[in-house]
Amino acid sequence: MPATSDKVTTATLRARKGSAEKIAMVTAYDVVFARLADAAGIDVVLVGDSLGMVVQGERTTLSVTMDDMVYHSRIVSRGVRRAHLVADMPFMSYQASVEDGIRAAGRLLKEGRAEAVKLEGGTEVAELVRRLVGAGIPVMGHVGLTPQSVHEFGGFKVQGRTNEQRGQILSDARAVSEAGAYAVVVEGVPQAVAADVTRSISAVTIGIGAGADCDGQVMVMHDLLGLEPGWKPRFVRRYAEMGKSVADAFAAYAADVRSGKFPGPGESYD
Ligand code: KIV
Repeated sequence: MPATSDKVTTATLRARKGSAEKIAMVTAYDVVFARLADAAGIDVVLVGDSLGMVVQGERTTLSVTMDDMVYHSRIVSRGVRRAHLVADMPFMSYQASVEDGIRAAGRLLKEGRAEAVKLEGGTEVAELVRRLVGAGIPVMGHVGLTPQSVHEFGGFKVQGRTNEQRGQILSDARAVSEAGAYAVVVEGVPQAVAADVTRSISAVTIGIGAGADCDGQVMVMHDLLGLEPGWKPRFVRRYAEMGKSVADAFAAYAADVRSGKFPGPGESYD
């Protein structure tokens, strides 16, 4: 889809640092939801590696591949005109070397049509962030409860409750911001920690489970839309109950087919 004149870019987003108008970001994994999010005025669409959990049914994000990310980013890009499109760098596409990371990020822009990449980590990825930005690839960082480190954390647990963790999260956020990241996702930390990070770095912060003080918020679309009725952690606000609506629609359709009520006369050809 051709971009609109009010296209959201990294410059637009940087200008919202500290602004009263917060940045609204959601995940999408296909063209239908990308189109709906874009038309609704969402600022940033993220093709998250949460794909592994909400679309592929895995327990973690770790098995998502570069090919998965390129494919989903490309199909999402066909539905996005105004929003800024970010694609996640999957586990082990950048941890082994800076060169791996540059090639992987390049694929997400060239083949996946993303406009920026997101990667998890802090001081250990700062050099990669610097090289990517130097190569013209905008980078969104991700600190706090970084899902690719789930086994290191011993589960999806809130981070930043101890002074040591709090200090680490702050220095991680500073490292990626100073390396040139235009934005940093802050996930699963106490509100005060996210507020501290937001005050301490020049990059815009996007929170998830991190309170109201970030420069923006991100939610996984399945959570926001209530697509998984049995899953509602504390940080999620549901704006629809699509899981229930869809299940009801499928059941009503099945009942109509079984009883012969569908198709009716107006739903058949003469
Ligand atoms: O993969 C993802 O969807 C994410 C968001 C939760 C920030 O990283």
